[in-house]
Amino acid sequence: MAELLQIKDLKVSVEDKQILKGIDLTIKKGEIHVVMGTNGAGKSTLANAIMGNSTYTVDSGSIIFDGKDITEDAVNDRAKAGIFMSFQHPISIPGITVENFIRTAKSTITGENVRALSFKKELKEKMDELSFDTSYAQRYVNEGFSGGERKKNEILQMAILNPKLAIL
Ligand SMILES: Nc1ncnc2c1ncn2[C@@H]1O[C@H](COP(=O)(O)OP(=O)(O)OP(=O)(O)O)[C@@H](O)[C@H]1O
Ligand SMILES: [Mg+2]
Repeated sequence: MAELLQIKDLKVSVEDKQILKGIDLTIKKGEIHVVMGTNGAGKSTLANAIMGNSTYTVDSGSIIFDGKDITEDAVNDRAKAGIFMSFQHPISIPGITVENFIRTAKSTITGENVRALSFKKELKEKMDELSFDTSYAQRYVNEGFSGGERKKNEILQMAILNPKLAIL
């Protein structure tokens, strides 16, 4: 099987403190990997480095995704390339509905105009699959959501954006 993600000798620091001290990881298409480690070991740091969060500085090493070196790419380009990361602590976005948020993300990532009506149908299907009440589509993103509802909302985004690599 083809390699989807190749991480080579990755060293990452946060605010001048080195967290990752040389990580190697290869993930092939269709594989599921579980990263285990104690609190503060650097799991979220690795996820953020793969996604390209600028708070995390890659000091050396490389991240190859789908055959392309993305180590220096901006976070939005990585999202367009098919990487999705769910947050450990999803924040709320007052004023933006779940439906608008995910529709805008989909049209930005695909570069195509996502029609409101067909999107509504797709959103309803995915929400039904997740047993997520469709009234939540009109609520502001994560505003007043319970912890589990926030997680469900992350999975809903993933289900609609259909990434090549999902980091949960
Ligand atoms: N933005 C940041 N500012 C300061 N320190 C940070 C930042 N992000 C991570 N760290 C530090 O880096 C270390 C690794 O954190 P990280 O979040 O990657 O751990 P983790 O393995 O995901 O832990 P957990 O199991 O608790 O989620 C911790 O000591 C943390 O305090
Ligand atoms: Mg973490």
